[in-house]
Amino acid sequence: MERFKAQPIAQKERAILVGVALNSRSELEEELEELAALADTAGAEVVGVLTQTRKEIDPAYFIGQGKAEELARMCAELRADLVIFNHDLTPAQARNLEKLLNTRVVDRTELILDIFAKRARTKQAMLQVELAQLQYQLPRLRRMWQHLSRLGGGIGTRGPGETQLEVDQRRAKKRIADLQRQLQEIQRQTSTRVQSRKERELFTIALVGYTNVGKSTLMNALTKANVFVEDRLFATLDATTRVLYLPDGHKVLLTDTIGFIRKLPPHLIASFHATLEEVRTADLLLHVVDVSHPAMDEHIKVVEETLQEIGAGDKPTILVLNKADKLPPDWDKEALLRRYPNAVLVSALTGEGLNTLLSRIQDQFRRMRVVAVHARLALWAQSLIAFVYRNGVVREIAYDTDWVSLDAEMERPFAESLQKQAEEMMAGEVVLKEAVPAASQR
Ligand code: GTP
Repeated sequence: MERFKAQPIAQKERAILVGVALNSRSELEEELEELAALADTAGAEVVGVLTQTRKEIDPAYFIGQGKAEELARMCAELRADLVIFNHDLTPAQARNLEKLLNTRVVDRTELILDIFAKRARTKQAMLQVELAQLQYQLPRLRRMWQHLSRLGGGIGTRGPGETQLEVDQRRAKKRIADLQRQLQEIQRQTSTRVQSRKERELFTIALVGYTNVGKSTLMNALTKANVFVEDRLFATLDATTRVLYLPDGHKVLLTDTIGFIRKLPPHLIASFHATLEEVRTADLLLHVVDVSHPAMDEHIKVVEETLQEIGAGDKPTILVLNKADKLPPDWDKEALLRRYPNAVLVSALTGEGLNTLLSRIQDQFRRMRVVAVHARLALWAQSLIAFVYRNGVVREIAYDTDWVSLDAEMERPFAESLQKQAEEMMAGEVVLKEAVPAASQR
């Protein structure tokens, strides 16, 4: 299968960026800035930029032929190993360009797929990226084959080349079907898991944000204290979901997701469906941004738009300004927080601000979910008392000869279930009230 894998971008490949202004010039500038950042993330070094203003796309080279020839000279002069187009190329355009430039050409989608391939950590993410890459490459296989045949000493496009191409296409299609099957199975498990979580009504928080802002690092920092906690209930969870104990003792789930990016390729959205379902079904989102990044506002916008697109635009969200340690010491943090009034400034690396973030999460959780429970239960109803201990936080308990008096906090669905059970068993009385804010308890 190796031959279908896109050649990954190697460390410090010398890259030239190419952008065409079809609409406004300023939009192109912004896009090229982001493309440069993406190239850097992929490990390439940007050695040159070529731009052109055009009314329409050239069918053969995307840019005009004269411009393409200029690009060829640039590639030779700057010893470029790679040309990155800010646009998606047709297979024919990519083929023509590679022939003319004698340099590898990747387009925006391939660059993004390359970054995702490098960052995929879980089995599911790896399969998802491979599927997206293969689907994108299938119509482009001829081009890859020509690469190989060129390396292999100029085998023509007929004869063995043609046959090999057919074999390749068949193998690629088989692999696509295979990946789809495996992903469906994972998706089925995820849905069951999401469903069973919903049934247990566990409060789920999803980390979202632009790529590389520190979501995984933050997840580790927040759940560090919990890593060794054995909890059979969660034994089947994948590496990207962990239990988080809030300061008030309640248990919630924290789940990591893929990084968002401007113009997420549709292939990627389709194959990351299962992962995005975690975002759609979450109760609360932590939108993580890299506060030290010059394009922070742009990143926030991209993420908000992507959330809208996947149907998660209206979820309660806490904005987390991460990497505070990278801000200059004299930075006006107060002004920053005035600009983003609902944000929390943290550093996942040094731990700064994490306690504030935890109590903000807790406030949201309590507001959305927690109720105070006062129960007077018959002593024989041990199973109900155990239910409260298992699913809530007991604040006070007092026994007399026949009765147990109990003050606790529980998530509403659990509290309602307790109420119903007590009624059915005729085991006593359960009263629910608004929970007192956690802060005033301390
Ligand atoms: P994707 O998987 O691409 O979405 O990335 P991510 O958002 O999960 O980011 P990740 O946690 O992998 O962190 C990206 C880089 O930022 C790593 O090199 C981290 O060490 C670094 N990083 C994360 N948090 C901080 C922070 O608070 N301060 C500093 N200085 N670096 C950080």
